Amino acid sequence: MLNLYPFKRVLKVAFLFLIKGPLPLSPLWDRFFKGGEGHFIVYVHSSPRYHLNVSKTSAFYGRQIPSQATEWGSMSLVDAERRLLANALLDFSNERFVLLSDGCIPLYDFVTIYRYLLRSDHSFVHSYDEDTENGRGRYSRHLAPAIKLSQWRKGAQWFELHRSLAVNIVAEDKYYNLFRKYAGSLNYPDEHYIPTYLSIFYGASIANRTLTWVDWSTRGPHPATFGRRNITEGFIQSIRNNATTCSYNFRPTSVCFLFARKFSRDALEPLLNISPTVMRF
Ligand SMILES: *[C@@H]1O[C@H](CO)[C@@H](O)[C@H](O)[C@H]1NC(C)=O
Ligand SMILES: *[C@@H]1O[C@H](CO)[C@@H](O)[C@H](O)[C@H]1NC(C)=O
Ligand SMILES: *[C@@H]1O[C@H](CO)[C@@H](O)[C@H](O)[C@H]1NC(C)=O
Ligand SMILES: *[C@@H]1O[C@H](CO)[C@@H](O)[C@H](O)[C@H]1NC(C)=O
Repeated sequence: MLNLYPFKRVLKVAFLFLIKGPLPLSPLWDRFFKGGEGHFIVYVHSSPRYHLNVSKTSAFYGRQIPSQATEWGSMSLVDAERRLLANALLDFSNERFVLLSDGCIPLYDFVTIYRYLLRSDHSFVHSYDEDTENGRGRYSRHLAPAIKLSQWRKGAQWFELHRSLAVNIVAEDKYYNLFRKYAGSLNYPDEHYIPTYLSIFYGASIANRTLTWVDWSTRGPHPATFGRRNITEGFIQSIRNNATTCSYNFRPTSVCFLFARKFSRDALEPLLNISPTVMRF
């Protein structure tokens, strides 16, 4: 590929943590990051007055960006995501951008995740059309003609973007302003803006699937949370490799997920106990 930069770039993955307050699983992430020195960087968006207190040796030390309050299910989450992307784009070594929450864990060692992301032809953005109340039912006629019902998409917000798509999301105003203007009449605009915008303009660049596993089987508005008593080698192993196949660079793979959520504070200790044998870090 043509080198457009005046010197050699060591490509990095930017890990963007969208949190409110504490990050109880940070010791697990710090163990994971030990395998990737020089190839990653962390950014944290939190509640404006929250101070993340971690040791100087942590990858999270001094990595909070100027933040504003967010509200579940609103455009303020998109604003926070754009703030994270804008900050991370300032470092031109950042090639891939992964959005994570305080309840996320990595399922593989750093090198495996780094290679999977850097060698992918696609960005991983969950984007699908669903003819249900929570899918097409959330479309608003106000969005036409810019967005037709047939172009309306839904998806989990936990993206993994290539640099070129991250630039577009930060730079584009038209669709963002349209969503902002009608946010009052849209339910959960944060689940629709990025999946819809990217599918209209960059459909061929996105895999339409997420790399972050989650359990919706409880059927409520929130997915299942896993704590101390739920963590076993078999459980984590079944998320890493569950007989399902996904497409990766147009070929089938059994590695569908690199991250998983949601894990609570008391899951930390059992996760640290099994991470060397199961996740290999
Ligand atoms: C930060 O954590 C350290 C070690 O746990 C503790 O001694 C210190 O008081 C904490 N600082 C703040 C501002 O909470
Ligand atoms: C993702 O979906 C779009 C349609 O919205 C499609 O054009 C594109 O090929 C899909 N991406 C992949 C990698 O299959
Ligand atoms: C976690 O374990 C507890 C105790 O065994 C159980 O009641 C709960 O259903 C489990 N949670 C999930 C999400 O599997
Ligand atoms: C693994 O797949 C089976 C069958 O599809 C499903 O019932 C189970 O919930 C899956 N487990 C995980 C952890 O995804």
